[in-house]
Formats: sequence, C-alpha cells, structure tokens
Amino acid sequence: MNSLVESINKLKKEKNAVILAHCYQNVEIDKVADFVGDSLYLSKKAKDTDADIIVFAGVSFMAETAKLLSPEKKVLLPRLEAGCFMANMINIESLREFKSLHPNVPSVCYVNSTAEIKAECDVCCTSSNALKVVKNIAEKENTNEVLFLPDTYLGKWVEKQLEGKIKVTTYNGFCPTHLRLRKEDIENSRKEYPNSKILAHPECHWAVSELADFVGSTKEIMEYVKNTDFSEYTIATEKGVFDRLQRDYSNKTFHLLSDSLVCKNMKWNTLDDIYNSLLREEHEIFLDDTISEKAMACINKMFQITKPLAAGV
Ligand code: 13P
Ligand code: SF4
Repeated sequence: MNSLVESINKLKKEKNAVILAHCYQNVEIDKVADFVGDSLYLSKKAKDTDADIIVFAGVSFMAETAKLLSPEKKVLLPRLEAGCFMANMINIESLREFKSLHPNVPSVCYVNSTAEIKAECDVCCTSSNALKVVKNIAEKENTNEVLFLPDTYLGKWVEKQLEGKIKVTTYNGFCPTHLRLRKEDIENSRKEYPNSKILAHPECHWAVSELADFVGSTKEIMEYVKNTDFSEYTIATEKGVFDRLQRDYSNKTFHLLSDSLVCKNMKWNTLDDIYNSLLREEHEIFLDDTISEKAMACINKMFQITKPLAAGV
C-alpha cells in the first residue's frame, strides 16, 4: 500500500472520518473510500454514518446533500472547484420563472441541484428513483402534469417510461458530459462490436438512449453487468463507471462508447486533495438554516416515497 493511502487511512481513524466516493471519481480514490456508489447510495450512507467528519469525494451538490442529511457532521469537499455543470444551469430566478409559467404543478428536482433550488421544490429524486418519485407525486397531488428540473433528458426519459400517462414538463438543463454522445457513436459502436450490450445513463440525449440496450442510473448499470452473463458491454456513461467495471469483472470485456465521457468536475479530487482536506479540515460545507430546513423536507419526501428501495441499498 502506498504511503499516501496509509496516511489517509491513519487520519481517518484519528479523526473518526468516513470517505464517500462517487463512481465517477478517479478510480484510485477507492483505495481510501469507505463507500463507493451512486448518488442515492451515498446520500443514504451520509444519513446513516456515525462518523464525525464526512469527506465527500464527488461534486459540490453531493457534499451539500450529505450536509443536509447529517447537519451535525463536518462535511468536507476536497476541491472547491468540483461543481456540477448541470446543477449550475438553474438559479433561483430561473426556477421561479419556470414555476410561474406552470402554476400549481408539483415540482420534482433532480438531486443534481443546489440546496437553494431543492428548498423551492416539492420533492427530490436521483436517477435511480426518478420514475417512482414522479409517479408518486402525480398520484398524491392528483395531477397528470409534473415539473422536472434541471435535467431535461432524465425528465423526458421518465415521461417516456410512463407511456403518456403523465406529462413531464422539463427545465432546459443538461449534462454536458453525457450530451457529448451522438447517435452516430452508438451506430458506429454497434458495427465495431456487434455482440456488445450498450448500457446508457438517462442523462444521455434521447436519440442515444433510444438506441441503447439498457438505460439506467449508475447503480442500475453496475447491477446489470453483475446480474447478466454477456461477455461484452459498451458503457455509455462517465468513464469512472467503465474503469470500475473493468477492474471488478476481469472475465468480461468492456468498451467505453467515447473517450470524451469524462466529467472534468468529478475528476478534480485527487488522493493528495483528500489528504490535505482531511488534515486541515478544509473546504467545509456550510448552509443557511432556513434553506436547509426546506431543502431537507424536499429530500425527506424522496426517502419516504422510496423507502423500500432505500432500505435495500
Ligand atoms: P447517479 O445518480 O447515477 O449517481 O448520477 C449522478 C450524476 O451526476 C450523473 O451524471
Ligand atoms: Fe454534473 Fe454531468 Fe458531471 Fe454528473 S457528469 S456531475 S451531471 S456535469
């Protein structure tokens, strides 16, 4: 084990800290992470931990969500630059304008949003539970229209699964990483690897998702590989997922649909940054109390709706 990894592990013990890492992180971070997973899994771990410090190896909305779920803990983001392009596409003014164009329609916000945005929405969701959350809120509010923000592609993918039963009106945000994929990438990949199963994240453009063999969240993509016995898979999501699958399933072959599938923001954090952040206890997340209370209500509603799912995570 290298000395940096040992030093981080030693610091973790001394400070009773836990390190949560998203699957899009640089893969070497797994050497020090206590939990590695998608945004739903990690938010559950943040909620349940009895550590004093949470180091969130991910992007800022994930660290904010951890702080909302564990307000009494010190939550650290190793690199302040690690934001999310999609989360930054909506601000409070544009949210209010969007809502004012559709009065009395319940709003679902993707977890990829700031605490301020969550505070003004009815319920939160992740890509693992978006379908369930949209269905549930529409039933509860007795409506056949739901607002979805900021990701238009995840929202429209949910609408398609609902086969016209619920209108999902989306804000026009998107993930630049997933939108780099074009339908030609899938077509070319099919020609090159005709026997490979193509697995895509619902943040991809619908023209891409439509051509994939399976569309699912990070966790669902990983489970698909675990639970199927095909020999070849093509990964149409961020490279970190491909790296981990390749590491964990040496008996299977993986292709990354495009070399451009790298989220620069997710890759900011290095082992050095994690060490420094834990040593100096720096880049702590602080949230306004009023915003936190409302944002927490939005997240808690998601947990109430998805209880059986969350309990099994
Ligand atoms: P997951 O909910 O699949 O972890 O996705 C997080 C994310 O940022 C995808 O771009
Ligand atoms: Fe945000 Fe896209 Fe990066 Fe996910 S992959 S953190 S949605 S920019």
